Amino acid sequence: MVKRRQLSFRARRTFATGVFMLLICLGLGLLFLMYEGGKERDNARQRGLAAWNKVEPLIQQERLPPVLSHDHDEAVQVLDPHGRVAAASSQLLGDPPMATFRPPDDVMNTTRVLCPPAGLDGCRTVASISVHQPDGVWSLYVATPTVPWYGSTTAVFLAIGTSLLLTVAVTTLVFRDITKAVQPVSAIQRQLADITAAHLERRVPVPGAYDTYEEVKVLAETVNDTLDRLEAAYERLRRFTSDASHDLRSPITAMRLQLDQAFAHPEDADWPQAAAKVLAGIDRLQAIVTDLLSLARLDAGAPLNGEPTDLGVLAAAELDQRTHGAVIVRHLQEGVCVDCDQLRISRVLVNLLDNAERHTASKITVTVRAENGTAVMEVLDDGDGVAAEDRERVFERFTRLDAARSQDAGGTGLGLAIAREIAHAHSGTLTIEDSDRGARFVLRLPQCPATSETPHQAMPTADTPGRRIWPRRLRAIVMNDRRQIPQRTVDTARQRR
Ligand SMILES: Nc1ncnc2c1ncn2[C@@H]1O[C@H](COP(=O)(O)OP(=O)(O)O)[C@@H](O)[C@H]1O
Ligand SMILES: [Mg+2]
Repeated sequence: MVKRRQLSFRARRTFATGVFMLLICLGLGLLFLMYEGGKERDNARQRGLAAWNKVEPLIQQERLPPVLSHDHDEAVQVLDPHGRVAAASSQLLGDPPMATFRPPDDVMNTTRVLCPPAGLDGCRTVASISVHQPDGVWSLYVATPTVPWYGSTTAVFLAIGTSLLLTVAVTTLVFRDITKAVQPVSAIQRQLADITAAHLERRVPVPGAYDTYEEVKVLAETVNDTLDRLEAAYERLRRFTSDASHDLRSPITAMRLQLDQAFAHPEDADWPQAAAKVLAGIDRLQAIVTDLLSLARLDAGAPLNGEPTDLGVLAAAELDQRTHGAVIVRHLQEGVCVDCDQLRISRVLVNLLDNAERHTASKITVTVRAENGTAVMEVLDDGDGVAAEDRERVFERFTRLDAARSQDAGGTGLGLAIAREIAHAHSGTLTIEDSDRGARFVLRLPQCPATSETPHQAMPTADTPGRRIWPRRLRAIVMNDRRQIPQRTVDTARQRR
């Protein structure tokens, strides 16, 4: 189907070029023939004029020979004042006058086309010239072959031949040119049609520099670049799906095992404990699903509720909310303004603090400062830190280093991925940087210009009236504060019991 369309495109273009060329050649041919006709007519007129110039003095000098010489195919006849043939060129010897018309009295000569004149054949252009002599008016007739508008048959053949040759040559060139352009495109199209999700490693052929137009080569390279990106994205998606399935299956398997064991010996089973374990499993599932949803929203580019915020005040408010298992040292510079979605930036801090508390030995340092037009928030712990080769990997989805797995089975491996996506959504960065001891996570955000209304007022602190206090449970759910959700769920379960 596609091939037929391509062929018809090629045929249409070639046909159109042929017709166009033919029309141009026809026009040029007509002009050429008209020019040739004009030139031939001029020639004939010159010949007639030459004959006239030669014979007229002979009449005037009364030295007219009976047989007149002629250079080409013109026929000449001289009539005396009585209308008798006094002299003629060789073709008209003994013939009567070739014509009877004469120029009007006030004109010297006149021309007519006679088909044929007496004594000749074919159509001739006959010029009648009056020569005034003392004995009366002599008449001179000069007949030259009538020239058609196209000049000669040779000119017609020349025009037709050249037109056909030019048309065929240009059409062939255009056909070859289009074929040269279309063939690599067909090859690209055939290869693309064969590429499926199962064969994303395949690439379209890139034509050589002299095989086709540069544009087709660039098209093939662009298609291959796109396929590279698609393959990488597909591979990430495949790994993500398999990791997500694996992480979702583990708690389900654990819960099922728990219930299977309890049902095997219902009378001996510690049902409250089994229920608590199942609830913990459900909490883990809930945490994973909530993280996945957060990532999906960030991937989909969910809009931010950006407002000017004092980053130091925001961090202080978050630290005030938490109960810490480690010593927290604050270096929070005030007046560092960022245009941010407060809930999401708090989420970054929560994720970093959760990790730091899990990995620290004793102390966590939280710093907020301005640095060359950039707002910087750092969370530094004094744990084992993250090895240089793992500093990018830990931001990948579901990545949990071995140490973390053994320390705490509760993490989802999505916290840092979410935090980095949030940083990117704010046109910022989140990285792990060198430190003397422990892990140093650095969030950098564009600093907003200072406004008349201080960000303080835009983002009230815990002490100021009107502070936006999220109900604890709602806030925990929105921010996926997992330390609080399980606790609450277990409490509710106990109450139910
Ligand atoms: N402060 C830290 N010190 C050492 N390793 C860390 C720290 N924060 C994160 N990591 C490593 O990065 C991994 C990914 O972190 P994260 O995405 O938050 O997932 P989770 O906390 O659920 O394990 C963690 O499992 C851990 O191995
Ligand atoms: Mg985490």
